[in-house]
Amino acid sequence: MEADGATPSARKPLNELFCSLPTTIFEVMSKLGGAAGTKRAAAPPRPRPRAPPPMSSARPAAPDPAPPPHTRAQGIPVDWASETLVTVGATEGLAAAFLGLLNPGDEVVMFDPMYDSYVSMARRAGAVIVPVRLALPDLSVPLEELAAAVGPHTKMIMLNSPHNPSGKVFSLPELEAIAELCIRHDVIALCDEVYEHLVFGGAKHISLRSLPGMAERAVRLGSAGKTFSFTAWKVSGARGGLHLHPPLPSTLGPSLEVKRRYLEGELTALGFGVLPAHGAYFLITDISKFLLPGEDDVGFAKRLTVEGGVTTIPVSGFYVGAAPPTHLVRFCYCKEDPKLQAAVERLRTYLGPGGKGSAQ
Ligand SMILES: Cc1ncc(COP(=O)(O)O)c(C=O)c1O
Repeated sequence: MEADGATPSARKPLNELFCSLPTTIFEVMSKLGGAAGTKRAAAPPRPRPRAPPPMSSARPAAPDPAPPPHTRAQGIPVDWASETLVTVGATEGLAAAFLGLLNPGDEVVMFDPMYDSYVSMARRAGAVIVPVRLALPDLSVPLEELAAAVGPHTKMIMLNSPHNPSGKVFSLPELEAIAELCIRHDVIALCDEVYEHLVFGGAKHISLRSLPGMAERAVRLGSAGKTFSFTAWKVSGARGGLHLHPPLPSTLGPSLEVKRRYLEGELTALGFGVLPAHGAYFLITDISKFLLPGEDDVGFAKRLTVEGGVTTIPVSGFYVGAAPPTHLVRFCYCKEDPKLQAAVERLRTYLGPGGKGSAQ
């Protein structure tokens, strides 16, 4: 994955502990060696059976002369040497950003519902999460509530677009409102854009970092795992490093759109309410019609898994604020077509007319 703009120029102090540490001697020597074009002149290594070949330097000797994909797609110039960081998946980038940028007590505004790993990492950094709830059913940003949530104690706004769990792609007016607040209150934006290439239905992904005044205060996270469809591998490279081939992502959006349309049609026909979305590979559904008396989304998801053979994620688990909605579940549709069809068949059997699990 990539994290660029790794040192935002916001004036509020970044993590004091990490900032107080000197640059390690390894970093100093690697840079020096890289600049001088030398290899490490240490004692010859002891021979080891099947040892990997020695690394020539921590970074490639020269950047790829072609503009990096993210510059091409978003028009944001990036200094590969000082503004990119290769991490083990976006997961490590998120951890690095929360731990490196926040101090205990800093407030982080996050949109509810959210990818759950933000919560543990931000809390591990000692931060205080200030949730702002996206409005249902279209998950639009409540601009007045957002403005009220951002203030002098706000250190960071966490933005995930395209969004997990909903697939929402934040609109330009929403991004402009967020940027305006970041600049007004001297706030860092942490932009999780791991699904940046998985957009469809006429939607366009716009990086918050590309808006005026945001490049110096935004950290942008991408994920090769998501972009190149090998999620869970947690492997990636910074721009100019690995030559990952750009055409592939452009085919992903359209192929996912076909899957989404198929699943949306089938779920709607069964009686699910499907929330709108134009990105990622998630789909939130309203399950009110299927809930048994006293049952919530967790109960429904468990029942559907055990009795119906289809696993969904209860959306209440993605909320950090009090009293989350309990009538929504998330489907994930980045599956091979036969698997999707088999899942739909099981849903029909279990929830369709005459099915055992239907509360209709
Ligand atoms: C919104 C979001 N951010 C980050 C990640 C983690 O990405 P990676 O697999 O590159 O660690 C995920 C994975 O599901 C995700 O949904």
